[in-house]
Amino acid sequence: MTIARRRRLVFRVYAFAAALSIAIMAAVLILPRYTRGARYLEPHAALLQYMVHRWSLKEPPEFAATLGRIEPRLRGKLTLFSVDGARLRTNVEPPLSGPTADERARLQTARWALSTGRIVARSDDGTLIAVYAPNRPGFPWHYVLPICAALLVLVGAASIWFARRLARPLDELATAARRFGAGDTAARARLARNDELGDVGRAFDDMADRTEGVLQAQRQLMADVSHELRTPLARIRVALELVVEDPNAAKDVLADVGTDLDEIDQLIADIMTTARLDGAPGAILQRRPARIGELAEHAAQRFTARHPERVLETEIAAGDRDIDCDPLLLRRALDNLLDNAAKYSETGAPVRLAVMPNSTRVAFEVVDRGIGMSAEDLERAFTPFWRADESRTRRTGGVGLGLALARRIARAHGGDVTLHSTPGQGTRARLDVPLAS
Ligand SMILES: Nc1ncnc2c1ncn2[C@@H]1O[C@H](COP(=O)(O)OP(=O)(O)OP(=O)(O)O)[C@@H](O)[C@H]1O
Ligand SMILES: [Mg+2]
Repeated sequence: MTIARRRRLVFRVYAFAAALSIAIMAAVLILPRYTRGARYLEPHAALLQYMVHRWSLKEPPEFAATLGRIEPRLRGKLTLFSVDGARLRTNVEPPLSGPTADERARLQTARWALSTGRIVARSDDGTLIAVYAPNRPGFPWHYVLPICAALLVLVGAASIWFARRLARPLDELATAARRFGAGDTAARARLARNDELGDVGRAFDDMADRTEGVLQAQRQLMADVSHELRTPLARIRVALELVVEDPNAAKDVLADVGTDLDEIDQLIADIMTTARLDGAPGAILQRRPARIGELAEHAAQRFTARHPERVLETEIAAGDRDIDCDPLLLRRALDNLLDNAAKYSETGAPVRLAVMPNSTRVAFEVVDRGIGMSAEDLERAFTPFWRADESRTRRTGGVGLGLALARRIARAHGGDVTLHSTPGQGTRARLDVPLAS
């Protein structure tokens, strides 16, 4: 943060804090004088009533003498009336107005009636009525002004301290954000604070971590895609060179070229679907109700056609229940789980497909007795293009996109794919989605 900016920050904090303190002081000092009800006059009222009562008992000359003594010491205006409203005496001109109808009504039951700034009291026998308006105390400037000045100095010092405290972490955060924006994906704020600014710093760092992860994954994806495309392309190139050398081999070679092109086609389709499911999964689903039994039957038929040498055991419960899904995508996910079961187990070992609905969800379970996966591999199996080392050497075909795609498809449907596996014993893959409501 530049010096000028820092000064502006100090000034803003100061202006805000000073305005706030002045407002609070004004509220504390001034408002009660105008808003407090007339009850604050009660102690005056009791005294006045006592005097008025005493005066009413006195003979006129004595009364006049007492009043004459008291009047100069009174801190307010006083006018006395007889019960019939005749003015008897006043220490101000013009005199205070006589009791209003409302005040008189109140005097029927009480000895005094209070309104803001004015007390009307009667003697016990009701013959004498006094209207008294105590002087308002002046505004206490003599102590308010020094307190104000001291407060503003204090607020100034606090503002500088606070702005400094604020400026440093903001600086660090801004620097980290600028560096990150300029392409340094390792830039982090790392604010070691436990307050709100610390939270913002941590949120920034988390965001940077995630963004770095996504960028890294994208770079990896690009590298993997190019790598996976290169293999069939290289085969096609070799095949075409072969055809040039020996035109008689064209028929066989072109069939292989066709297979390689299919592989490329499938790879591109899978990458596109994975990418689109990463974006706005709901938008690309073409949902319609589908019977879970039919989905499973189709998957089983495809499996048997693809792997005629394999035994598939099926167990389909309540197959007439519906799910609201994109059947093509869901089949794609299911097909991959079944293909994996075939690819990663010996030919003689049976594969099982079980469909198990409960009241709200359905689980499609594919169980094999194959090579299984280690706990570490289970974590990584859903990463696009990841394949266990054995899988690569087994020449099973595939690029390692099947499980990543299956999980995205399941999640787009509000479900998930999970794996349970024991190395050497087999794997249980479970695709679980909600039933149609
Ligand atoms: N049933 C299984 N048994 C053992 N390992 C498995 C099983 N299913 C998946 N794997 C491991 O997880 C990896 C990723 O599986 P995934 O289905 O994503 O890719 P793939 O089958 O290798 O290729 P693709 O599905 O793209 O054709 C596999 O390469 C394999 O190492
Ligand atoms: Mg697969």
